[in-house]
Amino acid sequence: MNVMQPIHRIRGAVHDKERHESGHKHVTGTAEYIDDMPEPAGTLHAYLGLSQRAHAEIVSIDFDAVTASAGVVGILTASDIPGENDVSPAHKHDDPVFATKLVEFHGQPIFGVIAESREEARRAAAKVKIEYRDLPHVTDVLEATAANYPLVIDPLKLERGDIADGFAKAKHVVEGEMRIGGQDHFYLEGHISLAIPGEDEEVTLYASTQHPSETQHMVGQVLGVPSHAITVNVRRMGGAFGGKETQANLFAAVAAVAAKKYGRAIKIRPDRDDDMVATGKRHDFHVDYKLGFDDEGRIDAVDAVFAARCGFSADLSGPVTDRALFHADNCYFYPNVRLRSRPVKTNTVSNTAFRGFGGPQGMVGGERFIEDIAYKLGKDPLDIRKLNFYGGEGRNLTPYHQTVEDNIIGRIIEELEQSADYAARRKEVIAFNEKSSVIRRGIALTPVKFGISFTKTEYNQAGALVHVYADGSIQLNHGGTEMGQGLYTKVAQVVADEFQVDLERIRVTATSTGKVPNTSATAASSGSDLNGMAAANAAQQIKARLVAFAAEKFGVSESDIAFEPNTVRAGHERIAFNDLIKAAYGARIQLSAAGFYKTPKIHWNRAEGRGRPFFYYAYGASCSEVSVDTLTGEYQIDRTDILHDVGRSLNPALDIGQVEGAFVQGMGWLTMEELWWDAKGRLRTHAPSTYKIPLASDRPRIFNVRLAEWSVNREDTIRRSKAVGEPPFMLGISVLEALSMAAASVASYRVPPRIDAPATPERVLMAIERLRAAKG
Ligand code: MTE
Ligand code: HPA
Ligand code: MOS
Repeated sequence: MNVMQPIHRIRGAVHDKERHESGHKHVTGTAEYIDDMPEPAGTLHAYLGLSQRAHAEIVSIDFDAVTASAGVVGILTASDIPGENDVSPAHKHDDPVFATKLVEFHGQPIFGVIAESREEARRAAAKVKIEYRDLPHVTDVLEATAANYPLVIDPLKLERGDIADGFAKAKHVVEGEMRIGGQDHFYLEGHISLAIPGEDEEVTLYASTQHPSETQHMVGQVLGVPSHAITVNVRRMGGAFGGKETQANLFAAVAAVAAKKYGRAIKIRPDRDDDMVATGKRHDFHVDYKLGFDDEGRIDAVDAVFAARCGFSADLSGPVTDRALFHADNCYFYPNVRLRSRPVKTNTVSNTAFRGFGGPQGMVGGERFIEDIAYKLGKDPLDIRKLNFYGGEGRNLTPYHQTVEDNIIGRIIEELEQSADYAARRKEVIAFNEKSSVIRRGIALTPVKFGISFTKTEYNQAGALVHVYADGSIQLNHGGTEMGQGLYTKVAQVVADEFQVDLERIRVTATSTGKVPNTSATAASSGSDLNGMAAANAAQQIKARLVAFAAEKFGVSESDIAFEPNTVRAGHERIAFNDLIKAAYGARIQLSAAGFYKTPKIHWNRAEGRGRPFFYYAYGASCSEVSVDTLTGEYQIDRTDILHDVGRSLNPALDIGQVEGAFVQGMGWLTMEELWWDAKGRLRTHAPSTYKIPLASDRPRIFNVRLAEWSVNREDTIRRSKAVGEPPFMLGISVLEALSMAAASVASYRVPPRIDAPATPERVLMAIERLRAAKG
């Protein structure tokens, strides 16, 4: 028995600023992505053949030139699928792997080519001759509505109070509409799957998926085999942002079907253009609204319809459009409200999850309401915001009847207003604009409140598997996937903290359906909330066994056992963690455990539009200042200040990174990223040459980002932290609103500028021209 002094604390504890577990490998090119893995001998490559029509019947397909092409081994069509030709995550049977008689968007997969090399497969796929019989198509939400296109899934309605009464009482009523554009995920690593056939029905897959369990299930369904035959592994993705929540399933299914057909390993990876054309994006929205308010700007009634371009199938459009409605109130109490969704079918790729999951679109709508009221009344939009914040007697009920119990937006706004010096700078901006003819400036301070939990209640569960080996090293596995956000690091910190051992002792292994079953998508920002708790639970089970063992070994009571940094204390004695583990192994103590967690308190009744869909809310605010050239519409962001709430941060270094990255991605969505389909329904913005994402040079010239260090989650989350992945995306809204103010200056801030998103220089210029004309 050693008597040793405990070192002060472990390295890499919870709440420490710890670097990303793979950071050094990301920057030195040694992090292994699926395309870097050594290929099994005899690996073949698949490439997809895509529809060249937006809506058509397939009359005939001539594969002669394809099969004659160099290196081609074979063709894969729907008739090769042994099970169901469907990967619909909504279980609507509307997502064929391969189209058969009908194509419903330009870029829809019709067949696969299998060849010796990827390049040969790609070249061969282009040689197909397909005869189509064209059908009328629509790509736009309003056109689809006019053409009586169906909805892809039942719409949602949220209602509270009495809107007729609210509008009747309101001093002012305004109506308006807004278009909010979509967004391509632009992950650095595109979709990829490697399928290795095994014995009997078995297939092992390496897939870029945020939802290995669903990929496993879908591949099983397509192959017509039970889930137990399919193993899906993911070590990391090179970014996902929601784009790999469901859309990875098709690639995995194609690779698996081909692997079984040819008895060889199959890899599939579309090039960037095809990835952009053939996989879904953020939904663009059209918002139609009516607002009632008083002379002060206090809202009496809101009636709004949020219509979304869903594409040809349901995918996640139901929950995405639901989440848009859940966030159309942002931080504001609407006394009388009716919000309706319209998930509209269109002849475009099926849109999907993207950071915020419809929430950003809803929130941009809600902030547009505030802006309209402010410019109508000639007031500072921030004053209108404060007037309408949740809080006070009878003013805490959301349109979905959840009570806001953890409201900290008042303090967040107050602190940011001070640190960003908002009031003085706004005065200065207005004074500057009075004297400046060409360059106009704008400043805006906008809040965020984002609901945390999957609205599909059953998704709010997680599992983990922790092994302590006889040498005292620890292996951790959980159902969450790593896409750059730092989940593996955070969950390892939790386990290190539980055992009180240095972080280096813990190895996180690739996510695998064979280790932890029935997991949820790593999505809804809940990765660390769910998997952190499940891993803590597993560690606690092992600790309980160690405590009982140590108490007996040292003849003390269990309450006298404590885990101290890299040691365990038993009464007055101390034993190194490693030595205790060695002894426990010798005594045949089980040193492995499966942990589990399910989020408490949440429930949701969609039919009634009532419940508590969210366990808690994450808050934040940002203040942005911009300069606009009113002759060209070009602009730059001069400064952004952010104060964001992550509760008690699990890892402030990673959280700051998430806040900065999310803000820039949100700002890109609202300013420069524009998707454009032509009259034939072809996506013409399918490469970085035509689709502009933010560059380092587009970031705010001054960028001050802080976490609200005083915030503690009032709910019992993992170490009182809050989710961080998505909420700060919506901090980008301050840039859109600052651009609005700069434009509004040409009409004395009295005409609502109503710039649609993205506020590209063209749109900003057109708004300025329109406002000048309105002023006369
Ligand atoms: N950060 C990086 N670097 N890459 C990503 O793909 N995805 C975002 C966010 N942050 C993403 C990211 C999205 S859409 C979500 S839902 C969360 O991370 C998922 O991870 P978490 O739940 O572990 O935060
Ligand atoms: N967010 C992200 N992904 C999801 C959700 C959600 O709320 N629901 C189902 N998938
Ligand atoms: Mo994130 S859109 O929930 O994957």
